[in-house]
Amino acid sequence: MFAAATSASVLFVVRLSLCSAEESFPVTLTNCGFEVTFESAPERAVTMNQAATEIMLALELEDSMVGTAYLDDAILPEYKDAYETIPVLSETYPPREDLLAVDPDFIYASYSSAFGDDYAGPRENLTQLGIGSYVSPSACENRTLRPSVVTIEDVFGEIRDVADICGVAETGETLTTELQADLDEINEDLLSYAELAHIKVFWFDSFNDNGVYVGACCGAPGMIMRLLGVTNVFEDQDGSWATVSWDDVVASDPDVIVLVNATWDTAKEKIAKLLEPALANMSAVKDESWVTLDFSYTTPNIRNVRAVQILGRHLIREVFESNDGSSSKSKSSLKKSDVIIIVVVLVVVVLCAIVVLLLYFFDCRNKAKPTNTKDVLVPLEGDADKGQEVEGVITEESKATKGKA
Ligand SMILES: *[C@@H]1O[C@H](CO)[C@@H](O)[C@H](O)[C@H]1NC(C)=O
Ligand SMILES: *[C@@H]1O[C@H](CO)[C@@H](O)[C@H](O)[C@H]1NC(C)=O
Ligand SMILES: *[C@@H]1O[C@H](CO)[C@@H](O)[C@H](O)[C@H]1NC(C)=O
Ligand SMILES: *[C@@H]1O[C@H](CO)[C@@H](O)[C@H](O)[C@H]1NC(C)=O
Repeated sequence: MFAAATSASVLFVVRLSLCSAEESFPVTLTNCGFEVTFESAPERAVTMNQAATEIMLALELEDSMVGTAYLDDAILPEYKDAYETIPVLSETYPPREDLLAVDPDFIYASYSSAFGDDYAGPRENLTQLGIGSYVSPSACENRTLRPSVVTIEDVFGEIRDVADICGVAETGETLTTELQADLDEINEDLLSYAELAHIKVFWFDSFNDNGVYVGACCGAPGMIMRLLGVTNVFEDQDGSWATVSWDDVVASDPDVIVLVNATWDTAKEKIAKLLEPALANMSAVKDESWVTLDFSYTTPNIRNVRAVQILGRHLIREVFESNDGSSSKSKSSLKKSDVIIIVVVLVVVVLCAIVVLLLYFFDCRNKAKPTNTKDVLVPLEGDADKGQEVEGVITEESKATKGKA
């Protein structure tokens, strides 16, 4: 009876959850001002940029993917096996006919450029072909529709949208919760460094004859620096990225330099540039105070949280805990480790004081009994040194005894 009832209720729960999964379709949402409707979860998805590919893989959707394209650098190690089960359509964007040849029902890109006429083509046209589409809101073609300042909530919002479209809303919730927990953890580790805001960071993307391309206020680099609580030296520059002069960089006097490493513009080339005489005088260059981040960490995506972890750990290791950086260690960080030592020392001092007082008290009481004192103080006859010592003791004792009398 009981078993039957239990299995019946299990069946009921299973049916309920199946129903609710079905009931979430059709999914309709407005993405970059474009309304898209999905009657069911896509089964033949194609991702057009690394960030989109890794978000789909983080949502465990590899079985619903028939193609990927355009990696910037190596796929995250934990998604490598899943990634390798999916055909790579192109090193960059695939031509439209190659894309349509895999019969996609969903095209997801991190940049609007994926929907250029030569590649996926306009989203309206894809809709006419029954192909759904999504583009990262931080990269809407219509710039007025992009978030004015990218936040981690925008990244989580994109993850939730894609999870909804693919019928895995719960996996999406789990993923964003885990990412938030990772952020909370690194921020907890950094909490004790009160001088975090005084750390000036220069986000060095690339350079050419026109100047230096830097992480500005409002894109992923700005967001990562804000999530860490450090100061972005080019916070006053609008947009995700900005071009400044080398004089601006030198004047900004950064403490830490983030070197973006891209195959087309490597960290190595940037270090060589920084070591030129005009720049080598910057203290961050003299101290080689830099950290390398692959380009794929620097657009809005799941990697941003890892970038916060990488930079945060670098700051703890190289800036706060290193020998020559010990001065920047804040008082509150001292508290955590040293308060215990201070308390222990205080307790020991107090205990010693009590012991000394007790000894003194008993000693004085003993002085009051001359026989005991004599027993204790019998000197070794003929030993001059010892005799002196003992004499001194006797003198002190006599004083004490006198005082007491
Ligand atoms: C998109 O559709 C319009 C109207 O049907 C057509 O004129 C245009 O050539 C199409 N563009 C592409 C890239 O297929
Ligand atoms: C961009 O979006 C804004 C706000 O919705 C709208 O007013 C404007 O017409 C759009 N621009 C283009 C080129 O579509
Ligand atoms: C920079 O990227 C290249 C290829 O993408 C890689 O081989 C190299 O190890 C990276 N360098 C650093 C310092 O991370
Ligand atoms: C380097 O910096 C020091 C002090 O910060 C300054 O005196 C010196 O002139 C600088 N040298 C160059 C080449 O800028």
